[in-house]
Amino acid sequence: MLDQNKNLSDISEVMTFSPTELSRQGFVSALRKHIMVDLASEMRRDYESNVKPAYAAKTGSEPSTARDVKKAMETRTLYRMWSSLRYNAQEMVWASVQNGVERALTEMIDLAKDAAVMNPAGGSLRLDPQLEIPRYVSALDVHLMPGCFHTEHTQDDVAQGAVQVAGGDVFRGGFRHRKGNPGGVGESIAHYLKLKHPEFDPRRILDLGCNTGKNLFPYLDVFPNAEAYGVDVGAPLLRYGHAVASYEGHPVHFSQQNAEHLDFEDNTFDIVTSSFFLHELPVKSTQAIFGEAYRVLKPGGLMVHMELPPNSEVDPYYAFYLDWDAGSNNNEPFYAEFRNQDVLGLCSDAGFQSEKCLKFLIPNYSSFGHDKFEAFVNGDMPVPQHGNGASWFIFGSWK
Ligand SMILES: C[S@@+](CC[C@H](N)C(=O)[O-])C[C@H]1O[C@@H](n2cnc3c(N)ncnc32)[C@H](O)[C@@H]1O
Repeated sequence: MLDQNKNLSDISEVMTFSPTELSRQGFVSALRKHIMVDLASEMRRDYESNVKPAYAAKTGSEPSTARDVKKAMETRTLYRMWSSLRYNAQEMVWASVQNGVERALTEMIDLAKDAAVMNPAGGSLRLDPQLEIPRYVSALDVHLMPGCFHTEHTQDDVAQGAVQVAGGDVFRGGFRHRKGNPGGVGESIAHYLKLKHPEFDPRRILDLGCNTGKNLFPYLDVFPNAEAYGVDVGAPLLRYGHAVASYEGHPVHFSQQNAEHLDFEDNTFDIVTSSFFLHELPVKSTQAIFGEAYRVLKPGGLMVHMELPPNSEVDPYYAFYLDWDAGSNNNEPFYAEFRNQDVLGLCSDAGFQSEKCLKFLIPNYSSFGHDKFEAFVNGDMPVPQHGNGASWFIFGSWK
């Protein structure tokens, strides 16, 4: 029987790792940094000094598309080594946390159940066991994460949420500026809005594909009067996220829904947001989701997404580099298709007026600190180049 007066414990704290597991995780983080920074720079040098000139000598012009660059790069030893290491490091991220998750699972499930009953922060958890998981989630292990976002191994399972959170720490761990701050995107967008539009006072914020909510929580720090809603198809993520939110005091309403068909009323939200979400969906799903975003936004509200920059925004080499995740490398089959879209066209097709659409890069807030971030918002500081989370590509529209 649940004691309603007992204090809720931190679900992430019950997951502990042995010294050997911690050194394995440290190794994977360092390996990822080596791959994503050192080897990636070497690869770009190889392209500029050798591959591009050879291609131009042979064809009479430089590579002009990601596909041209790929054709020229895929026989290079350095690229093949980089690609192979990157694939293996991605698998190692999840493997490095799985034992700890399994050991703590029973205790974490109990904590999540307590959180769902107690709701100490005033949030809620609404699950739909009948929800049909879309095939673009159920048919493959996105990001090579075994079980993907939705699998339930046992009753009231939270394992996929725990693997996402602990694995995410390992994934980002080599990057000092992102370490320990999983919600950098939400934090950066929220501060941007507060500084750029001080009159905008959002009262209801909806995050689509919220996962465990890490990019939703920071909105509440910046807009403490707002109510936060998070939607995802993965029940274990939502249970885990709700337990974290309950412990940390974030009043978040999590619900298990397909963002293509939301059950919220028209004109409900001031902000509809997402991060790292749309590139994982077929474009027709994105179109349906933007239709829903338009419907549930209040007039004067803002749809704002963080995504990978489209091909039209980057040079052919960087387009090739970004597209590594597409297809079988990282099991993101719609990634390249999404990056070929005219993102503002997608917004206006959903009913948003083209003159109210926007797209821009913003720096990662915590990497630069408030003063520099404000200087950027005021136009006094240039935005760093996109890559490894130094800045984020943002687009959307006011309604
Ligand atoms: C890469 S994760 C993004 C997580 C999170 N937004 C973040 O910033 O880290 C994509 C999320 O979208 C969810 N998802 C995929 N298709 C969905 C859909 N149609 N409706 C709601 N959520 C969906 C997945 O379960 C997953 O948690």
